[in-house]
Amino acid sequence: MFYLTTAIDYTNGSPHIGHAYEKVLADVIARYRRLRGDEVFFLTGVDQHGQKVQQTAEKEGISPEEFVKRTTRKFSSLWEKLDVKYDGWAETIDERHKACVRAILSELKEQGQLYKKAHAGFYSVRQEQFLQERDRDEAGNFGPEWGEVVEIEEENWYFKLSDHTDWLKDFIESNPEVIIPAFRKAELLNALEKNSGIDLCISRPKERLQWGIEFPFDENFVTYVWFDALINYISFAGYQAAPDAGLPDFAKLWPADSRPVHIIGKDILIPAHGIYWLCMLHAMGFTDAQMPRLLVHGWWNIRGEKMAKSTGNVVDPNELADKFGVEAVRYYLVRDIVTGKDSDFDMNRLIMLFNTELANELGNLCNRALNMSQRFTGGVLQLGGPLTEDDTALQSSLTESIAAYQTAMDEFDVSKGLEALSRHIVHCNQYAERMKPWELNKNPENKERLATVLYHLAESVAHATVLLSPILPDAAAKLAGQLNLPALTAFKLTDLHWGLLPDGHVIEKPSPVFPRIVAEVEA
Ligand code: ME8
Ligand code: MG
Repeated sequence: MFYLTTAIDYTNGSPHIGHAYEKVLADVIARYRRLRGDEVFFLTGVDQHGQKVQQTAEKEGISPEEFVKRTTRKFSSLWEKLDVKYDGWAETIDERHKACVRAILSELKEQGQLYKKAHAGFYSVRQEQFLQERDRDEAGNFGPEWGEVVEIEEENWYFKLSDHTDWLKDFIESNPEVIIPAFRKAELLNALEKNSGIDLCISRPKERLQWGIEFPFDENFVTYVWFDALINYISFAGYQAAPDAGLPDFAKLWPADSRPVHIIGKDILIPAHGIYWLCMLHAMGFTDAQMPRLLVHGWWNIRGEKMAKSTGNVVDPNELADKFGVEAVRYYLVRDIVTGKDSDFDMNRLIMLFNTELANELGNLCNRALNMSQRFTGGVLQLGGPLTEDDTALQSSLTESIAAYQTAMDEFDVSKGLEALSRHIVHCNQYAERMKPWELNKNPENKERLATVLYHLAESVAHATVLLSPILPDAAAKLAGQLNLPALTAFKLTDLHWGLLPDGHVIEKPSPVFPRIVAEVEA
């Protein structure tokens, strides 16, 4: 089983393209793994507790319940619009999740992993956490990223994180494959160095925060939002759940010898996932072989700057999809960023990449393969005659492109996978320009040669359709219909060999799938 999760989005605002990117990336990977033949479970959802939600709801004069219900819908309806198809949906106000968090708290307390103590120190209201000396900048101040910082003294519950950090260091060093991309590993080990000896405050007194999960053994406290949120990866996977809870079978989803993949952004690797979560799992008795892999993606910026609501520097994925179509948005979000790195969001590049790679290159190829077959051979594809060097070169280009696509997609590098596919499509168009099927058609003596050329083009479109299906499910389904292919779910990557279209195959009536985007260029 391939168990894949994303971060769960805070429901204190509206989704932006950063959120959309992560969910589309996960959806593409889930669909690709199915194409590879894996059994997949894809979990995503929303993070509904915490101080920010409580404060925003207060400001709007409604209850936090009502507020999160409203904002949650903004996320789930966007995923529906963007064709993000998940198998499980996590909402942290779900009673099954809360029960799981409480059971874990009780269990850890019994094992002596939790203790209560008073602590005086600086607290960041924005980040909802106590600050340490290491959080000061060079000048000795707490920088603006922490927002309002207040000095408070209070009693709280702590998790003995420091009991696990030596294990974690060894574990990361000897299992480098768990941190993707590899360059993030050094950052994590560095942070661990600085973190040694510090335990994690996992409660918030109710006087300050009510909107959280109450401690099962101390009703004056609710759970710190991260300790609550991270547990979604196991609570919604059926961890310690009753068989009739309507949750998956945990043993099947997350067996003792398998690593799920958690897709997260670079800002929540340290300390949340890379330190807290792995140590929490270790404290709960998860084995080294069971520790998840963390696929850490980069950020979409806007004109080199971080997206921020306060400066109006955000892009609304709903507006984008309405303007350019869902497929153009999905394509751009995984095409113009290298998984792990940051990228600059640029509307002109969205238009350019769609128009160049889909409307022009792939559109041209479809037109030649399908329209010309329709017009010249009545839509009947025939294997044709003896192969020339051009034909075998096209076949090798396809074989290479499929292999490069698979390698890249196995490494979660969707952009590189799409580049590999693009190379073959460009190759096909050059082939068409040299073979000139429109000229061949003028002389009946060329009938066999014409059939060979059209077959090579159509066969390439058929392969491209299958390879594109994880990224552009809707366009791929349309192409499959025009090609008269069986439903795309019937295909596995291993079926992709030359001869997908049998001799004598009849195609349907073609029509353009990628109409050019015509838009004013924005400054
Ligand atoms: O961190 N580009 O929620 P969140 C790419 N609730 N990705 C971005 C991004 C950007 N500009 N901005 C945010 C939280 N993200 C917690 C997670 S998980 C147990 C709890 C990514 O709504 C971000 O990195 O602030 C994270 O992976 C996800 O969006 C949700 O961010
Ligand atoms: Mg965030």
